Amino acid sequence: MAHVVSERVIPIMIQPLGNLPVPAPLPGPTWQPGQALSDQRKRPLRDLRISVTDRCNFRCSYCMPKEIFNSDYVYLPHSALLSFEEITRTAQSFIELGVEKIRLTGGEPLLRKNLEILIEQLSALKTLDGKALDITLTTNGSLLARKAQALKDAGLKRVTVSLDGLDDAVFKSMNDVDFPVSDVLEGIEAAKAAGLGPIKVNMVVKRGTNEQEILPMARYFKGKGIALRFIEYMDVGATNGWRMNEVMPSSEILKLLLTEMSLKPLEPSQTGETAERWGYVNEHGKHEASLGEIGFISSVTKAFCSDCNRARLTTEGQLYLCLFATQGYDLKPLVRSTQDPQALTQAIAAIWSQRNDNYSELRVSEPMTGNHSTLSDAKRRVEMSYIGG
Ligand code: GTP
Ligand code: 5AD
Ligand code: SF4
Ligand code: SF4
Repeated sequence: MAHVVSERVIPIMIQPLGNLPVPAPLPGPTWQPGQALSDQRKRPLRDLRISVTDRCNFRCSYCMPKEIFNSDYVYLPHSALLSFEEITRTAQSFIELGVEKIRLTGGEPLLRKNLEILIEQLSALKTLDGKALDITLTTNGSLLARKAQALKDAGLKRVTVSLDGLDDAVFKSMNDVDFPVSDVLEGIEAAKAAGLGPIKVNMVVKRGTNEQEILPMARYFKGKGIALRFIEYMDVGATNGWRMNEVMPSSEILKLLLTEMSLKPLEPSQTGETAERWGYVNEHGKHEASLGEIGFISSVTKAFCSDCNRARLTTEGQLYLCLFATQGYDLKPLVRSTQDPQALTQAIAAIWSQRNDNYSELRVSEPMTGNHSTLSDAKRRVEMSYIGG
């Protein structure tokens, strides 16, 4: 069985493993191959996010603020990382349980050496019904111009690029490492040229910091075949000093966009989608795919937990279920013991079947008070750069 890992508190030190048992399986039969798996809220497991490094070359204030992630910060040593073979073996177990989409994240995933080799290994895997996996990657775009073609050749299907504005001064104040907008745009162009589409661009909106970039970003990406998604600034992790008054609700962003663009709501393209989609319309009020779309990820004002089908595997082999979790499950001992490959799959199934989290729904019901015990756990929350977005 897997072990619960003690909470990860900043600064990250090597944590004692195996000090708590995995929750006991619920009464009833254990999971059998071919059986549908669902959690306590009847949610299937479809989407696996794999963090391949906890490092990043940016210091976005909402994710890896410089005061914390400085030269004293202890990152994972190389020996702690899962190897590509171990990641692939773990991914195979997740696929047996229903996973159809794999997203590589970080930190910044393109900092992991030879990532193309991992992508080649993952792209050889097939979903339960024999289809190709949807393999994608979330990147800050800084290394994309250099790597896009090699990633495509290795089997990556598409990328999502984070970009918080088009004005250099604003963007540099957000990435906090003086990184220019033009290099990210070049990366996006290279990804497009390599066929890594459909490309999505994620913009985290912080009121008082980059809200003036909303319209320029929408104008820039309109008609380019790239879906721009506005993300409400979230209280993930324990270090970003999140305050509700810095959140710009999606409803307000939409109102602003509608002052100069015509948009209509679109149906979700799949269950469990994080973004609410809106499509550009023509002069007759009709949306056509060629006109493009934008998206709103409203995890603060409009929770989407009821469809949440995502699991997160950290760089060192821990399984986290919720983005706001304070504890994960150490899968590494099972990944490393190859004697019984089914044991890993069974452990993941047991963990998923007992899952009950719905953090964003709780936050929506008590947005400011933080009264609920899960909400008041804020100081102990795992960092997004550690579990991936
Ligand atoms: P695709 O639409 O298939 O490309 O995937 P996605 O929208 O899940 O991708 P992405 O990783 O770009 O997610 C976008 C953002 O949504 C993340 O960066 C997070 O900010 C947020 N997000 C993703 N998953 C969750 C989740 O499970 N819970 C919450 N609250 N937010 C999430
Ligand atoms: N709130 C909202 N989105 C965030 N991201 C990172 N931290 C936060 C936060 N606090 C986004 C990044 C990237 C993705 C991986 O997660 O901008 O698009
Ligand atoms: Fe790095 Fe992405 Fe976090 Fe910014 S949001 S610090 S680019 S991992
Ligand atoms: Fe899923 Fe947790 Fe996000 Fe809700 S808050 S959508 S349960 S990851």
